[in-house]
Amino acid sequence: MTDGAIFLLTDRPDRSAALETILNTVGRCAVVAGEETPPPGAPVAIVSDLTLSRRESVGRLRALMPSGQAARPGPGPVAGQAGRIPVICLMRSTSDGDLRQARDLGATVCLPAYTSPHVVAQVIRDQVAARDETARGVAGQGIVRATEALTGLFAGARVGGVTLGVVEAGLTPILAAVREGGLTRWLDTVWTHDDATYQHCLLVAGVSAQFVNFLRFPEQDRQHFVRAALLHDLGKARIPQAILNKPGRLDADEMAIMRTHPVIGYEILRDSGCDDATLGAVRHHHEMLDGSGYPDGLVGSAIGDTVRLLTICDIYAALTERRSYKEPMPTRDALAVLESMDTKLESGLVRCFGDAMTAVAP
Ligand SMILES: [Fe+2]
Ligand SMILES: [Fe+2]
Repeated sequence: MTDGAIFLLTDRPDRSAALETILNTVGRCAVVAGEETPPPGAPVAIVSDLTLSRRESVGRLRALMPSGQAARPGPGPVAGQAGRIPVICLMRSTSDGDLRQARDLGATVCLPAYTSPHVVAQVIRDQVAARDETARGVAGQGIVRATEALTGLFAGARVGGVTLGVVEAGLTPILAAVREGGLTRWLDTVWTHDDATYQHCLLVAGVSAQFVNFLRFPEQDRQHFVRAALLHDLGKARIPQAILNKPGRLDADEMAIMRTHPVIGYEILRDSGCDDATLGAVRHHHEMLDGSGYPDGLVGSAIGDTVRLLTICDIYAALTERRSYKEPMPTRDALAVLESMDTKLESGLVRCFGDAMTAVAP
């Protein structure tokens, strides 16, 4: 395990020292005893060596549990199995009621308190391995579905119009893959795609999914936004491959051709019966608040919220893309570039976007 710590919650006088020693062989173990503040960042796993019959112990465990982990969640989105971290509860009592309480809190395994620390460590290893496997599968499925949608759309756009129905099947798998498998795994899978334009669209769609999941948009709005992200560069279907895949900077003539893609995409989708919000996002995703963007040179309030969000996702994706001729920009540097564009992008949204990208997924 490389990222995040294993939180060991304890109320034992010896701070569960033997267990801590063994857990440090699995990953970095952070002991949280009594009212101590846990370290920053989300845990990669939690081991509870608490007396769960005490109300304050239940409160402490609940406070550290990731959203979507509990078996009886609140009204927010529920993470799938791949979105749950291993939570091992060492039970001082194993009555039916106590076990049910631990499960409801989000425990993935309940073990008797006298269980050997070596066994606890092995259970964590097994659970993390199983979770990674599931997450890989979810990301792979999402990429397959989204690629099918893109292939159908771009093929249609090259020869005439598109059938918008084909995009719908790609939306839920993308949102689920990013929510359950995490953005990092989605991006790692997207890099293996060999078509640069599809890769970019999948990247923008994944980043957009992370953003709207983070903002806790209603499900319908999430789907609508990811749909716009998948469609935003559809006009590139009619831009010559030599320009799209040119390794390096475009000259002025090539750039002029490239800059026609928002209007081309808009016209294809308008003729296919697309809704106005998506049409606006496709046409205007290169507009800037200070009027320096294209194709219409819109200024300030003329640029709607969906467009503002999508533009941030698009620029971030372009900066962090991997290409044979350029190194991907690290997340922190890309976020600094976005922040420096404070006359062009909405600063509050950029800050929020930064929080979404640096949040430990899932
Ligand atoms: Fe674009
Ligand atoms: Fe784009």
